[in-house]
Amino acid sequence: MPGATELTLTPGIAADSWAELHADAFAAERPRPWSSAAFANAAMDSATDGINAKGEDGELLGVALARTLFEDAELLTLAVSPDKRKRGVGAVLLRAIEDAAIRRGAERMLLEVEASAKPALGLYSTFGYAQIGHRRGYFIDSYGRSHDAQILAKLLTELD
Ligand SMILES: CC(C)(COP(=O)(O)OP(=O)(O)OC[C@H]1O[C@@H](n2cnc3c(N)ncnc32)[C@H](O)[C@@H]1OP(=O)(O)O)[C@@H](O)C(=O)NCCC(=O)NCCS
Repeated sequence: MPGATELTLTPGIAADSWAELHADAFAAERPRPWSSAAFANAAMDSATDGINAKGEDGELLGVALARTLFEDAELLTLAVSPDKRKRGVGAVLLRAIEDAAIRRGAERMLLEVEASAKPALGLYSTFGYAQIGHRRGYFIDSYGRSHDAQILAKLLTELD
């Protein structure tokens, strides 16, 4: 398990490697990866923050992306490589992207998560996110199937 000392966080969005990781992260059941072009567009948006979590050898283990507009931030994606999960990487990334949004003045983080994504729902619940809505058929996967989403929110002004 990579402990905090073995994990390096760096800002920025490397479109190709992010797209590769994202495709792996969402491949299993309901693929809906972002393309390299989508990440390249996000990188050009001055309202976005991207965080890379890398292992000791520089391998990309996970990524987080958020966009902040005034007091609201939106977590656009959070993904950890399938074989690097359950080691605390997602939690470190989530805290780091919340901090980045707070530095921009965000008071609330919003996100849409697949209603059946148990690991993600577990992580967000641990972090104090609460459901504020439900969107039927919100996510469309690579096979054209739709999946419900939960809308979650958390006040960033109440962080420890
Ligand atoms: C969600 C995701 C980012 C979690 O990454 P991770 O590095 O495995 O998460 P962590 O190891 O930091 O886990 C932190 C907490 O999340 C929860 N969690 C993580 N995996 C879980 C699982 N399989 N089942 C239930 N809860 C889980 C737990 O509360 C965990 O705390 P604990 O280890 O003390 O029990 C990862 O599973 C992932 O990339 N999933 C696919 C992409 C995705 O769904 N992203 C969210 C899109 S909005």
